[in-house]
Amino acid sequence: MGRVVVITSGKGGVGKTTVTANVGASLAKLGKKVVVVDMDIGLRNLDVVMGLENRVVYNIMDIIEGRCKISQALVREKHLSNFFLLPASQMHTKEDVKIEAVDEIISIIKESFDYVLLDSPAGIENGFRSASSPANEALIVVTPDVSSVRDADRVIGLLENNGIEGIALVINRYDPNLVRKKKMLDSDDIVDVLSLDLIGIIPEDKAIIDSENRGEVLSIVEKTKAVQAFSNIARRMEGENVPFIDLEPEKKGLFGIFRRK
Ligand SMILES: Nc1ncnc2c1ncn2[C@@H]1O[C@H](COP(=O)(O)OP(=O)(O)OP(=O)(O)O)[C@@H](O)[C@H]1O
Ligand SMILES: [Mg+2]
Repeated sequence: MGRVVVITSGKGGVGKTTVTANVGASLAKLGKKVVVVDMDIGLRNLDVVMGLENRVVYNIMDIIEGRCKISQALVREKHLSNFFLLPASQMHTKEDVKIEAVDEIISIIKESFDYVLLDSPAGIENGFRSASSPANEALIVVTPDVSSVRDADRVIGLLENNGIEGIALVINRYDPNLVRKKKMLDSDDIVDVLSLDLIGIIPEDKAIIDSENRGEVLSIVEKTKAVQAFSNIARRMEGENVPFIDLEPEKKGLFGIFRRK
């Protein structure tokens, strides 16, 4: 029976879809059978970010409404044979989704996978509820700013009320230079405020934006610090004790010696 993990945040645009695709790919690279489910009904993002939009035939609503079998809606990733996408519908709204129906579909899907990762839409309305309802675990994604942390705090309360155990924190778009200049919250402060287990810090990495624009999952095609950070999250999910990587920029020349705190 696979693990069902919702990737959520409260605040929009903080990196849920990015984390879903890259942690999913990293788990698949560890040999796990993984499906990422786009629960952002009405918008559809994950297929584009993964470069699979031309291969989408059916979606999760087609399964729920009986137009296809689960296996017909799953799209296999182009490079990793054990990595699948279940796309969202663009023709429906989040209010069209029946939570019980999603619960039922996911409970069947998890029998055939090691991991089911649910990419939640922003907010705390029906879309968030139907994405989190089937989950047993959650990854909360925050960026190092006050509004993101505040929204995450709200979401954590809701998840705990719904009985989700195993909530872990991912800090995304972290930039040590901005933290040092006090323009970004420090990771220790965020962990203190949210009092969650920190499972990963993803640095700000322009390669993420570029790869998403090309329709490629960075963790499949490149090796940057962010990719290593995603891989470390996957390994920690697998129970490995992995040290956190040093995100400080490489020191350049003599002056770099004086640059670190
Ligand atoms: N670590 C990062 N470094 C640089 N850019 C990033 C990083 N993480 C995400 N981004 C960029 O931020 C934007 C938003 O990311 P993403 O779509 O994953 O957020 P989201 O939380 O899923 O948004 P939404 O709430 O709209 O679903 C994208 O353009 C993505 O490429
Ligand atoms: Mg998204």
